[in-house]
Amino acid sequence: MSNTHFGFQTVDESQKAGRVRGVFDSVASKYDVMNDLMSMGLHRAWKAYAVAVANLREGQSVLDIAGGTGDLARAFAKQVGTRGTVVHTDINEAMLRQGRDRLIDEGTVLPTMICDGEALPFATGSFDLVSVAFGLRNMTRKETALAEMNRVLKPGGRLLVLEFSKVARPLTKAYDWYSFNVLPRIGQFVAGDSQSYRYLAESIRMHPGQAELKTLMKAAGFGHVDVHNLSAGVVALHDGIKC
Ligand SMILES: C[S@@+](CC[C@H](N)C(=O)[O-])C[C@H]1O[C@@H](n2cnc3c(N)ncnc32)[C@H](O)[C@@H]1O
Repeated sequence: MSNTHFGFQTVDESQKAGRVRGVFDSVASKYDVMNDLMSMGLHRAWKAYAVAVANLREGQSVLDIAGGTGDLARAFAKQVGTRGTVVHTDINEAMLRQGRDRLIDEGTVLPTMICDGEALPFATGSFDLVSVAFGLRNMTRKETALAEMNRVLKPGGRLLVLEFSKVARPLTKAYDWYSFNVLPRIGQFVAGDSQSYRYLAESIRMHPGQAELKTLMKAAGFGHVDVHNLSAGVVALHDGIKC
C-alpha cells in the first residue's frame, strides 16, 4: 500500500478517489456559480485562453477529461464543427450530469462518458487534442494519467493541462489569506460546504508547480512542452506535444 495526499492529509492511495468523489458530489449543483464567485469570473478568461491556444480546426477530434460542467467541451465543439468530435468525460456522475444537462439546454449534444483519467477506455492514437482543466490535481496517480493522455493522442497531438499552479512570490501572502479565509466561507455560504473549499485550497498547494509539471509531462512522452503563466501563476496552461 502507498500513500498520497488528499489536500494536506496523507491518505492511502485507495482512499483518494472516494474522498475526491465526495467533494464533487457535494458541490456539483453549485459548481458553476461557485467558480464565478471564487475566481471573480477569471476562470472564464483562463478557459478562453486555453481554447484560443488549442486553435482547433474543423473536423478534429478532442477528448475533454475531468470535463465537469462542460465549459471547455462546449467551446471546443464550436471550433471543430459538425464534422469534428468532442468527447465530454468525467469520473463523477453528478458533475457530468450537470454538464450534459446544461449543454443539452443550450442545444449542444456531445458524446458524454463517465471515465477515469487514469484508465482511459479509448484506443491508442484516437485524438488530435486532449484537455484536462482543473482536474489533474484531483487524480491519484498523475504520472499514470499523463501517460494515458499521451497514449490516446495521435502522433503530433497535443495535451492542454489548465490547472492551478505556483503563484508569483510577492502575491503569496495575499493569495494564502484569500484561499484559507475567504474561499471556505464563500463555500459555506453558497454551497453549505466549507470543507470542500478548504480541500481546494490545500490541493492547490500540494500540486506540482509549473516546472515540476513540465518535467512530469516530458517523462510521460511529451517531447515539447510550453508553459503559459496566467494571472501571475495562479493558473498555468501546459501545452504538450506528443513527439
Ligand atoms: C474542479 S472540477 C473541473 C471541471 C471542469 N474541467 C472545469 O474546468 O470547470 C474537477 C473535476 O475533476 C474530476 N475528476 C477527479 N478525478 C478524476 C479522475 N480520476 N478522472 C476523471 N475526472 C476526475 C472531478 O469529478 C471534477 O468534475
